Amino acid sequence: MKVLLATSKPFASQAVGEMKQMIESAGYQFEKLENYADRTQLLVAVKEANALIIRSDIIDREVMEAAPGLKVVVRAGAGYDNVDLEAATLRSICVMNTPGQNANSVAELVFGMLIYLQRNRFDGSVGREISHKRLGLYAFGNVAKMVARIARGFSMTVNAYSPILTPDDLRKEGEYGVVPLSSNKELFENSDIVSLHMPLLEETRNCVNYDLLSLMPCDGVLINSARKELVVEEDLIRIMEERPYFQYITDIMPERHEEFLARFPKRYFSTPKKSGAQTSDANVNAGLAAASQIVAFFRDGDERFRVNNKS
Ligand code: 3PG
Repeated sequence: MKVLLATSKPFASQAVGEMKQMIESAGYQFEKLENYADRTQLLVAVKEANALIIRSDIIDREVMEAAPGLKVVVRAGAGYDNVDLEAATLRSICVMNTPGQNANSVAELVFGMLIYLQRNRFDGSVGREISHKRLGLYAFGNVAKMVARIARGFSMTVNAYSPILTPDDLRKEGEYGVVPLSSNKELFENSDIVSLHMPLLEETRNCVNYDLLSLMPCDGVLINSARKELVVEEDLIRIMEERPYFQYITDIMPERHEEFLARFPKRYFSTPKKSGAQTSDANVNAGLAAASQIVAFFRDGDERFRVNNKS
């Protein structure tokens, strides 16, 4: 069995070393294609792969067709919008993710970016504190839970709305101490800072629009550590034009990055490259989870973290 680690954004070398060791001690071959710049390199590298470990790398029909022996793809991370699930199902390929493994890393970045912008990039001018502000979590998965936990340390009030959980479900997650809300409107209306934590699905694409954003306070802050496609960029630009104190903080550079930068140089911040999961800790957690899921898949047929339908 050949396991290929194919990541255009490489893992920490410690993570790669530990993954290699785990795969090889299970008796499989480990190969890597890291830091590739050209998709044709990926198409060549997958040729003999039976298993793939990836990050945000696009795994579509073309890649699957180039890998006739492919049986399993593990997205070392949470979001799998980069994998064509239907194409995988058609070819009897199992697709899995590693939920929760990089959640704390993303959550810490949320606060890093938030404080950085509230303190005006540490330029010495008068900034704002986050303590006692109302933080709204849009969705309540693994990252949102970590954000809620950290927010309590800052004495923030944490509101949460989930499109898939009821307020009663949220109430049962008592350890996170969130105030459960029953609609996204209520969330935006009652939060000074809204942090997005939903996956990119057809139902969530473009879900943050003008109507929702206009419910926030005039000096509201929107944080996006999830996916750029969740936000209607032109609506956000309109809100920021209308509200001279509104801020946008993102770990996923928007399509209209240059425009945001030119129009709102002090109220807009984007990381130059998505950095949420880019810590050695998260790399080790997600990488080893991916490696062990592949071993369990081949050895025991374990498909516990499968995200696509079976054919
Ligand atoms: C995820 O979905 O797990 C995060 O967005 C991290 O993505 P990355 O592995 O491409 O950094």
